[in-house]
Amino acid sequence: MVKILAIESSCDETAAAVVADGYRLLANVVATQIPVHQLYGGVVPEIASREHLNAVAPVVERALAEAGLALGDLDAVAVTQGPGLIGSLLVGVSYAKALALAAGLPLLAVHHLAGHMSAPFLEHPDLQFPYLALVVSGSHSGVAVAEAPGRYRLLGQSRDDAAGEAFDKIARALGLPYPGGPAIQRAAAAGQPIYDFPCAWLADSYDFSFSGLKSAVLNFLNRCQMKDEAYRVEDVAASAQEAIVKVLATKAARAAAELGLDTIVLAGGVAANQALRDRVQQLAEGRRVVYPSPQFCTDNAAMIGAAALTKYEQADFADFSLNAQANLPLYFYD
Ligand code: KG4
Ligand code: ZN
Repeated sequence: MVKILAIESSCDETAAAVVADGYRLLANVVATQIPVHQLYGGVVPEIASREHLNAVAPVVERALAEAGLALGDLDAVAVTQGPGLIGSLLVGVSYAKALALAAGLPLLAVHHLAGHMSAPFLEHPDLQFPYLALVVSGSHSGVAVAEAPGRYRLLGQSRDDAAGEAFDKIARALGLPYPGGPAIQRAAAAGQPIYDFPCAWLADSYDFSFSGLKSAVLNFLNRCQMKDEAYRVEDVAASAQEAIVKVLATKAARAAAELGLDTIVLAGGVAANQALRDRVQQLAEGRRVVYPSPQFCTDNAAMIGAAALTKYEQADFADFSLNAQANLPLYFYD
């Protein structure tokens, strides 16, 4: 049994997990900073780094205690190298390096999105490659083919705002709390998608664009205010969610059909969205649709431990010159 301690600190969650054989969860600890950032309506990078510094040691200790393991019982230490907020990433990378060095363990550098795309293995270890992955989070929206363990080919990505970012910005304009995705989902459940906000289809490409939608919602709200016209937040939320979900689900289903892939995997924070899950299922034409439960959609270290197994098996170890990389590209990840 290969036991990997994984550390994730790319954004606003400090997380540590112990994962055996890439899917068996021995411990999973997430210290969220959401209440701290909620005061500012979004993540404040400087505050995030400071919070990670305070949380990283206790979170790792708790994960080891939960697993009932000592450092000497582990086979490797894995850490998110990027992409993400540089100050946040650095805390995890530095801590993981120190831990690996002190314990004489190999160090594994994991791409954050490879982590998201590996999250489904935690609950569906029977998942087979290749699969189509729709990775949608607060900072990334992409369609990728997971060709084999550790091999990802990006087909398209957002040209501007990520899907989660669109949820967050639209929620803020509607006076809903951060993070916006869950708040919009809740509001939308009590509304109707009566407004026809624009969808950027970008013709034949698998790219996305959400900044036009964000502007359209902001313009709509301004117009209502100027004309003193009433609207229901719930209806605007439902309409905006519909515009985002429609494009994401359609492109994911189209990619799976065009590439002849039998399985569609949803990953990243936005994959927690029920409307998105339902829509992909509807459009999947009988293909298997796999998504993690919400706690493994949003940032966590278990997914980093899941993605790290391949690197361990390939003896693809990082050395102690490893540096955090805010813009680590997925293309080079194979
Ligand atoms: O994967 P994640 O935790 O962090 C990044 O890697 O960015 O994703 C966070 C994003 C936020 O933008 C949040 O609003 C969105 O995921 N999100 C959701 C839902 N839950 C979280 N978006 C839509 N519906 C949800 N239920
Ligand atoms: Zn993420």
